[in-house]
Amino acid sequence: MLEDKRAHIYALIHAIINYLKINEDKSTGASLALERLAAMNLCEDQIIDTPSVGTRHEEILSKAIRGINKPALQGIANSLKRAKKHLVWREDNNNYYQHGADVGRGYRKCNLHTLLIGPDACGYLQSDFLLGVFMLGPRTLYRDHRHAAPELYLNLSDKSEWRLKAQDWQEYPAGSLIWNEAEAIHATLVKDKPFISVFIWLKNVKAPCITFPVGDWIEIETELEKGT
Ligand SMILES: [Fe+2]
Repeated sequence: MLEDKRAHIYALIHAIINYLKINEDKSTGASLALERLAAMNLCEDQIIDTPSVGTRHEEILSKAIRGINKPALQGIANSLKRAKKHLVWREDNNNYYQHGADVGRGYRKCNLHTLLIGPDACGYLQSDFLLGVFMLGPRTLYRDHRHAAPELYLNLSDKSEWRLKAQDWQEYPAGSLIWNEAEAIHATLVKDKPFISVFIWLKNVKAPCITFPVGDWIEIETELEKGT
């Protein structure tokens, strides 16, 4: 059983690395992440044995994974489908945020992630690096925030909207890479379908996220909630 689990987690991580290699020229973040990953021992026998943890958002998670349509992402989608039940799924209940930060109702209602590489991961242990899968429920504003960790997102969902450096909202397709340098402000807006992505924090993983208040949060959230 452990061998089975290791094989699935290994396949998922290597499908992600493979996609990053193919698209390395599209993002500084991808090459920086690959540099860090190349220095790690990612052999299958290094995968730790952690009991899996399921989630109350299982249905939304399955829907999000089924929604990964882009052919170039099928390697990741298929290995994620197989690895899902072996992983440790967690919700962020302000663990990543500065004490008292208001991350918003939508985020609190449905956020989910699993860490494949990191200090508390269910794959490979690394003290100052995170690689995982992140999900948000439909009709969610993930409020503008910043952190000391340089961050790379690989969007798996069909489309998602991002507000980078407090500029205008922009739509990004499946397979796109979003590179947030350290302390760069960013927000994500999820419409009718759940959002799923790979995320990587390259360093400074212990520094908390800090929200960056923008005047339209309540208006956007009220509008999103009307449709739920
Ligand atoms: Fe972030």
